[in-house]
Amino acid sequence: MSANQASLPDELVALLRTKPSLAVLTGAGMSAESGVPTFREALSGLWSRYQPEELATPEAFSANPQRVWDWYQWRRELVVNAEPNVGHRAVCRQERSFPDFHLVTQNTDGMHQRAGSQEVIELHGNIHRDICSRERIPVTLDENDPDHPPACPDCGAHLRPDVVWFGEALPSDALSAAHGIAQACRVMLVIGTSSLVYPAAGLPYTARSHGATVVEINPQPTPLSDEADYRLEQSAGTGLPALVDAVLSTADGGDAQ
Ligand code: OAD
Repeated sequence: MSANQASLPDELVALLRTKPSLAVLTGAGMSAESGVPTFREALSGLWSRYQPEELATPEAFSANPQRVWDWYQWRRELVVNAEPNVGHRAVCRQERSFPDFHLVTQNTDGMHQRAGSQEVIELHGNIHRDICSRERIPVTLDENDPDHPPACPDCGAHLRPDVVWFGEALPSDALSAAHGIAQACRVMLVIGTSSLVYPAAGLPYTARSHGATVVEINPQPTPLSDEADYRLEQSAGTGLPALVDAVLSTADGGDAQ
């Protein structure tokens, strides 16, 4: 047993060993150890003087489509050159081991899928897809298009990333699936999110009001911290693998991949 395993609450490990219905809700902190900057921590370089909230809005896109497009191109490139981390892989191990498992993410980076997660509910879209800003239909980007942003081949409007901006509605299928999961799960792990952006931030409260045990994994406190049943004050790449190791090591005869 490692030092991290030793500091895990025994009752939590025992509960998870019963393989309860498990929901995992992730945010930007999940990919931080892959080198993808979170939204509310300092950005470096070119974009350090902008707040994400000033870039991730329909108004910002109307006012300066090139700036918003270029910011997303910068994030895309960062993500493409990053690799999923041990935290993402620990989520995959849970998906394989828990018969009733659900992953809900606020992340648009596709890292969970790259790590091998099969079923991912994306609440805020996916940065790797593009849509027409007018018709909202998916469009395959011509990488050689010199325009920033390129024009929709169908109607000529600007293309935009298929992500949810502040002030926009979340995809209704994803949101209603996430609500159903929050209501039905027995345990919810909330990993690497500031718990500030609703409606995603409301899911742990829904879970708790329906009787679930809520566990937060985050090195920093959040508005959820005092409400959570357990708080692991660790990074996703440390706290989650340690928890999964502790739960699966004896329960499954040693799955510690
Ligand atoms: P934030 O940037 O708001 O918060 C990141 C959280 O991750 C913070 O609470 C950090 O303490 C925590 N964190 C940092 N490093 C970590 C690590 N290694 N392990 C675990 N936690 C770590 O990101 P989100 O909560 O995901 O929306 O932000 C929610 C939404 O706001 C995003 O999906 C995005 C943003 O604007 C859209 O793009 C629509």
